[in-house]
Amino acid sequence: MEVKIVFLGDIVGNSGRRAVREMLPHILEKYKPDFVVANGENAAGGYGLTQKIAEELFSYGIDVLTSGNHIWKREFFPYLEKSSRVLRPANYGEGAPGRGFTIVEKKEIKLGVINLEGRIFMKPLNNPYILGKEIALKIKEETPFILVDFHAEATSEKIGLGYYLDGMVSVVIGTHTHVQTSDARILEKGTAYITDAGMCGAVESIIGMKKEQAIEMYLTQVPRKLEVEKKGIVKLEGVYVEVNSEGKAKRIETFRLIENQL
Ligand SMILES: [Fe+2]
Ligand SMILES: [Fe+2]
Repeated sequence: MEVKIVFLGDIVGNSGRRAVREMLPHILEKYKPDFVVANGENAAGGYGLTQKIAEELFSYGIDVLTSGNHIWKREFFPYLEKSSRVLRPANYGEGAPGRGFTIVEKKEIKLGVINLEGRIFMKPLNNPYILGKEIALKIKEETPFILVDFHAEATSEKIGLGYYLDGMVSVVIGTHTHVQTSDARILEKGTAYITDAGMCGAVESIIGMKKEQAIEMYLTQVPRKLEVEKKGIVKLEGVYVEVNSEGKAKRIETFRLIENQL
């Protein structure tokens, strides 16, 4: 038996949702995954999620939505509390709404999904390594198939978690930088790893947002809210992983589909 998992990098706004709607069917047909997990932290106008958008993404075939630093929209808290298919990073403080891990079951296969956030160049949250290991060991009592989305800025912190959890989980996938890295591989003890899965969103943008606005911000150093780039072609980036019956990764490969270039 093997378990096939597709993971999509951060879905950014309307363009990202369009990329999923138009191009995820190609990926589903190519890999025939048992589970699809995606990072949805930027899916609603670039910042967070709404119930409507989460449900829209589920309707495209996504089973679990992970997130990160942009998930904290107050209007979304009730759904975050209620849904077992939307995660926020597990290492926020006690009492934070929602959950940081879940176990989903399909065709009698259980997949554990853990969401963690990095601390380098980000908020000083609880230690993602210690908590990640604790949660992984707990999930392991129920299923050997475990996916970790490590939402972090620093490549070193991400690679470190990959090695730290090597052999304990099936795959560690980095998100948050929105740029797909070329280091997908299986680590020594059987955990598949990539530093960043990439993004689903506008191609001609700065990590999904309007490039003129981001450049203005970098020139003036005046903070501003960036808007999602809605014009132009979109891309779908992510990772495909195959796991054996013991939860060890057998294969990892990346994909990037660009609209009109399929
Ligand atoms: Fe993001
Ligand atoms: Fe993020």
